[in-house]
Amino acid sequence: MKFGYFDDVNREYVITQPDTPLPWINYLGCEAYFGIISNTAGGYSFYRDARLRRLTRYRYNNVPLDCGGRYVYLRDDESKQFWSPSWQPTRTEVENYSCRHGLGYSIIGSTSNGIEAHTRYFVPMGENLEIWQVKVTNRRATKATISAFANIEFCLWDAQDDGTNFQRNFNTGEVEVEDGVIYHKTEYRERRNHFAYFACSRPTAGFDTQRESFLGRNRGWDSPAAVEAGQLTNSVAHGWSPIGAHQVKLELEPGETQQIVFVLGYHENSVDQKFDPPGSQTINKSTVKPIIAKYLDAKEADAAFERLHQYWDGLLNICQVNTPDIHTNRMVSIWNAYQCMATFNMSRSASFYESGIGRGLGFRDSNQDLLGFVHMVPSRARERILDLASTQLPTGGAYHQYQPLTKRGNNDIGGGFNDDPHWLIVGVSAYLKETGDWSILDEPVPYDNQPGSEQPLYEHLQRSFSYTLSRLGPHGLPLIGRADWNDCLNLNCFSDTPGQSFQTTTNKEGKVAESVFIAGLFVFAGREFADIAKHRGLESEAASCLAEVAKMEEAINQHGWDGEWFLRAYDDFGAKIGSKECDEGKIFIESNGFCALAGIGLEDGKAAKAMAAVHAHLATKHGIVLQQPAYSKYYLNLGEISSYPPGYKENAGIFCHVNPWVMIGEARLGHGDQAHDYYNRINPSAREEISDQHRCEPYVYAQMIAGKDAPSFGEAKNSWLTGTAAWNYYAIVQWILGIRTSLDGLQIAPVIPTNWPGFSARRVFRGVLYRIAIERQGSGNHIALTVDGVPIEGNIVPPPTDGRELVMVKGILS
Ligand code: BGC
Ligand code: NOJ
Repeated sequence: MKFGYFDDVNREYVITQPDTPLPWINYLGCEAYFGIISNTAGGYSFYRDARLRRLTRYRYNNVPLDCGGRYVYLRDDESKQFWSPSWQPTRTEVENYSCRHGLGYSIIGSTSNGIEAHTRYFVPMGENLEIWQVKVTNRRATKATISAFANIEFCLWDAQDDGTNFQRNFNTGEVEVEDGVIYHKTEYRERRNHFAYFACSRPTAGFDTQRESFLGRNRGWDSPAAVEAGQLTNSVAHGWSPIGAHQVKLELEPGETQQIVFVLGYHENSVDQKFDPPGSQTINKSTVKPIIAKYLDAKEADAAFERLHQYWDGLLNICQVNTPDIHTNRMVSIWNAYQCMATFNMSRSASFYESGIGRGLGFRDSNQDLLGFVHMVPSRARERILDLASTQLPTGGAYHQYQPLTKRGNNDIGGGFNDDPHWLIVGVSAYLKETGDWSILDEPVPYDNQPGSEQPLYEHLQRSFSYTLSRLGPHGLPLIGRADWNDCLNLNCFSDTPGQSFQTTTNKEGKVAESVFIAGLFVFAGREFADIAKHRGLESEAASCLAEVAKMEEAINQHGWDGEWFLRAYDDFGAKIGSKECDEGKIFIESNGFCALAGIGLEDGKAAKAMAAVHAHLATKHGIVLQQPAYSKYYLNLGEISSYPPGYKENAGIFCHVNPWVMIGEARLGHGDQAHDYYNRINPSAREEISDQHRCEPYVYAQMIAGKDAPSFGEAKNSWLTGTAAWNYYAIVQWILGIRTSLDGLQIAPVIPTNWPGFSARRVFRGVLYRIAIERQGSGNHIALTVDGVPIEGNIVPPPTDGRELVMVKGILS
């Protein structure tokens, strides 16, 4: 069952039923001002940091779900009936409901009582504000008298505090209302130099800023007393809960449409010019007023929307593919790329499942996110790399997370996740391959943000690589530390105390437990690093790095191979994890996927065996589960992985982030059919038909789909913010379609399904447009390339050096 459809031409997903199984959300903003918005206008906004600069309030896990948002109410002032065109929060029955989630905007609306209304929400490029364009049309045969209300609830900035510190919060709220604009200025009197505002393009018939005056006592957003009465009360909040509500009266002739523009924004003043007049407590509005005036003008708003549209056209046009499979096309050319922007911006901080409070930007997460993002805005990828590297510790290890507002490592979580440093190599390598910008390696970058500790970025990569060499365990495999990629495999934690953090509690010295996954990652990252060194002319460094890689491969062959597949780890007792000897957790996806991806065992048959074992033991129709058999009880020596009921999350859920490792492994083995089959098992568009079972949005990946051990097998959770976005993008584009960036140029090495006659693509690479056409003439993966009609040796097409901006690449697969 579906709840909408893809409008591929307009690059929108159109939801046609408001009561989707879960709120289906979209992101507004892609620079500094952000919002999440659900298909019924729920959600919230923030400036840069979802915890520390939250503009509006949202109630996670409320009943009903998805409470708090950018709400518009309409009231027929004759019949006194009122409703929400976005269905929530009144949940009055409406006709022709639709929510068009597009690239950086959402348009939500419906018709009720012969009154059609749609609101377009978006954040203009370069501004710290959002625009709501509400269009109301009278579809009746007679004149209509309508009151339109727009409403938000302010958050008192620090979202954590806002939801907990009520003894203070109920006393601090302050607003100003001037010329019909509502200014939220809680804590502006003291250390904040920022405020929020909510403005309206039309003369208003009233406003409210105190929540209780708007809602009435003991009422919710579904039936605000002031809306019911048809008159806002002009309340000025002092303490309690400041809101922003405007009322506009509309007289609509039959067929007439009128537009109201609302602007919600964030603004900072300089410390010495906070107040006007100086010495007063009144906000100095001189710098914000021109911005407000500009965007309340519908023509300016339309122009800003057009610019946003063009921005996304430009980003998506960097890579467009046309294959025989619609799901591949729409994910690669539109939605997967779009999701990669969201994960780049948000890391794992703010979604319907991430409260924006718990986590900053993850070191490993943000580095991996680059794989799907770097081609879109390389300059921002560069900045991110330098920020991440600045939080690296002198040991080569890394803070597991950093706060986006301060760009400082997060001390509460600390470091000691022994896979982390290698992802920096992976991220930098992806950047170099995309851009050829070698200057990044010479950038001076501090350790732990300490001034004076700056060293070239290249040295950070050296320390990342060496980090593992001084942390090897009894089998010569990397010690796992607090956890590796799998945050829930906590082999040194041994926690028996409720509420302890599995990630940061360590009760063991950590000198025994080893990770085969990190070993595979070390081999992968080590080879990338050696390539970088070689390109810099550092032959002997490259050689010694490859010698260490070879030693690690040997350790994997000796101690990381279980006979039919790769082991996962050794625990603190030196016992195997992910082995046929185990009762539960006999085989894991991560070590198998990553070793195959890294090319380990390609020659001696191990990779092929491992992939066959994954197929036999882990593959399901909804995707590949993380391990089998699921852990049926809590194991002290394993940690959080065994805390989940079987089939969820890391305990044998279909963890979509790691599925592409297997796809790439299969592609490296030349198995295009299998690789693409796995790709479409978790591709959200390919699952659209089972939306009632999948339940999450059909246009973006979810982190997890319940595995076969769960009663809800096939149900997705944690959509949007997941490494799944970047890895699936990377797997399909670079390994299955084989349009792969390399240090020397664009490599073309497709491993596509045998029944595809070919495909075409456009890819802008280092300023040159590559038009690629692949034609299948045989069933293998051998490729013969011509560039502008001239056959070339090998499969790497370097960017032309003669100023040409277009190359035509033709490939014959046989
Ligand atoms: C989740 C992991 C996540 C970790 C982050 C765990 O509860 O299962 O997926 O990486 O929290 O701290
Ligand atoms: C989600 C986390 O963000 C990521 O860092 C981790 O690798 C996976 N969960 C697996 O635990």
